[in-house]
Amino acid sequence: MCPPEHFRVTYSINPWMDLSKPVDVRLAMAQWSDLRDCYRSLGHTVDELTPHPDLPDLVFTANGGLVLEDRVLGARFAHPERYGEATVHEEWHRERGCVEFQRAQHTNEGEGDFAVTDRWLLAGHGFRSSPLAPQEAQEFFGRPVIALGLVNPRFYHLDTALCVLDDGTAGDGADGDGGSVRGREGSTVMYYPGAFSPGSRAVLERLFPDAIVAEEADALALGLNAVSDGHHVVLPQAAVGLLEPLRERGFEPVPVDLSELLKAGGSVKCCTAELR
Ligand code: ARG
Repeated sequence: MCPPEHFRVTYSINPWMDLSKPVDVRLAMAQWSDLRDCYRSLGHTVDELTPHPDLPDLVFTANGGLVLEDRVLGARFAHPERYGEATVHEEWHRERGCVEFQRAQHTNEGEGDFAVTDRWLLAGHGFRSSPLAPQEAQEFFGRPVIALGLVNPRFYHLDTALCVLDDGTAGDGADGDGGSVRGREGSTVMYYPGAFSPGSRAVLERLFPDAIVAEEADALALGLNAVSDGHHVVLPQAAVGLLEPLRERGFEPVPVDLSELLKAGGSVKCCTAELR
């Protein structure tokens, strides 16, 4: 995570970013600190990236790359305003000593457009990441990649429209019937169908018949921009319609308020790069 010390809306590269709505940096800092402390209280380790005065969106660390088994596919940003962030992330990973770092050839905005399930990588394209990014990720990670077309500019990144909730192993506990509570059939996801092209929607229905399907209001609260550790699901508090469906499937929702970050089109997941 990266503290929003220099967070501002000084340019507009998605429909959420309204230059006439100033950001309250102190409030953003307080909300962000609550999110960091929330992760720590759940037992997770949080490393902090040093903020940079010229990179107001650096707070959205999910966009820096995709990390899987200590191999890192570094981002290549779509907009010049964010180009500089890729280097900050690369230096951080190299210093930390990842096994292999590769700066992508094709535009991809890291976990903004890549999600990891037990079996596949899901890759969004249409607004930011290139349609060639899925193939590049498949080659680099040696995992099958499912490319998904995004069609609604409010949901310009995959992580604004879909969240992977577990790795498909969490439900192996018995439900008393010799079955499992959830998960034996693979990862559970939640998503908003309206963000996807018709064909990609059909793919999601086919791959995830038991998914939590979000309503528009929860999607517009960026409720899908959540982070799950397989049990706790940290999500924007305004997405109240997701609470019950999550609980029904055995997850524990942990609502947080990131309203200031929403002014740049980001929330929980955007602020969180996961180091697998
Ligand atoms: N203002 C940033 C942009 O438009 C927000 C990035 C949000 N990050 C994310 N992972 N969806 O690029």
